[in-house]
Amino acid sequence: MPNLLVEKPAIEGGRPVRSGDNPLPKVFPREIGPNAMKYFRELVESGNTANFLERFDKAFASLIGSKYALSLSNCTVACHTALAAAGVGPGDEVVVSPITDYGTVYGIIAQRAIPVFADVDRLNGNVTAETIERVITDRTKAIMVVHWAGIVCDMDPIIEVADKHGLVVIEDCCQSILAEYKGKKSGTIGDIGCFSFDVEKHMSCGSGGAIVTDREEYLERARNFAYARGSIVEDPSFGRRHKVLGNNYRFDVVRAALALAQLEILPRKVRRYSELGAQLNEGLEEIDGVIPCRVPEGSDAAYWIYPFLVEVEKFRVSLDEFGKAVSAEGLPASPGRYYLVPESHDLLNDLRYTYGEGVAPGGRADKYLNKRYSAEMTPNAKWYVEHMLRWPFTDKYSGRDIEDILAIVRKVADYYRVR
Ligand SMILES: Cc1ncc(COP(=O)(O)O)c(C=O)c1O
Repeated sequence: MPNLLVEKPAIEGGRPVRSGDNPLPKVFPREIGPNAMKYFRELVESGNTANFLERFDKAFASLIGSKYALSLSNCTVACHTALAAAGVGPGDEVVVSPITDYGTVYGIIAQRAIPVFADVDRLNGNVTAETIERVITDRTKAIMVVHWAGIVCDMDPIIEVADKHGLVVIEDCCQSILAEYKGKKSGTIGDIGCFSFDVEKHMSCGSGGAIVTDREEYLERARNFAYARGSIVEDPSFGRRHKVLGNNYRFDVVRAALALAQLEILPRKVRRYSELGAQLNEGLEEIDGVIPCRVPEGSDAAYWIYPFLVEVEKFRVSLDEFGKAVSAEGLPASPGRYYLVPESHDLLNDLRYTYGEGVAPGGRADKYLNKRYSAEMTPNAKWYVEHMLRWPFTDKYSGRDIEDILAIVRKVADYYRVR
């Protein structure tokens, strides 16, 4: 029975909260840093010799609070480079978040290591010290945490577990740039941080990425792997010897010039993302049947996307229908089940998709673990993607926009709530 005492949602024929002539702001068009044209002019006038790569790396390391940064072509390769720099290789297990993008796991498979998915905190989709420790074995070499949606994992206990077992910690900060945890920025808490500047991220130059680290040894190995393609010059009269299966994962001066301009406006923008997200969290707490994601104490989230949980059991509609009703009101929220990697990445269970019929049926990315990758491996993560709606967040929202977003969710929840 619909609740006739509350306003009819737009999807049922009512008036949308925000419609075509008064839409909520979108991520695009993007704000471009005021120095972008100046940097491009400098680059062109220098005949492509202005060293924007070095300038960007220095500025990036300094803003993130790390000793070194190395910019790369995107974060998929930044994650791969971090693993190679940390010495992760064939047969090593890497404990990794199951809720993430392909870019997090690609490097693990490329290094012929084994992704081992730790379950998550149901209330924010992030791995925890407890879920990580449960899957550590004597093969584990590294932990790769993802600060999902810009909410930093509860890192202190994770670092404790890593230290106890002597593991390297890599942070995938694609979605959490400048998010802070207990006074430290994400990417500086573990051993190596990985970042993305892709088209949709907080800071974009089209496509780009970087790693940060305090350890010179990791920086040098990363540079060799991703810039020198694994080669060294032992004898200058001979030239390069290729020792390692490296790659060309380089960034370039053109994108670095734009990235530098974007970096200059980033702190203000991310501060706004955090404030707006915190306002939404507070408002959503008041709506029965929806739950804002849990942010660890002492942390402020960067909300690249804004996720919230719908207790679907409390409503007469499914998660997808709830999302469609919210979208019809002018807020484009939808589920993201494909983010559950053990479920959506068929290549983990069968390498024939990658290498063709020459590989034995069922040939595995992981030939050591005697189990099939599936959603059942990580029940909390499965629950999370079955209850989560999210939409691309932007710092362009005004206070009024946040009120309208809350009004949209409240309107849909009130109408469809089981009474
Ligand atoms: C958590 C996470 N890791 C890695 C990536 C890959 O980043 P890129 O597109 O820069 O390769 C993404 C991209 O969305 C991501 O969200």
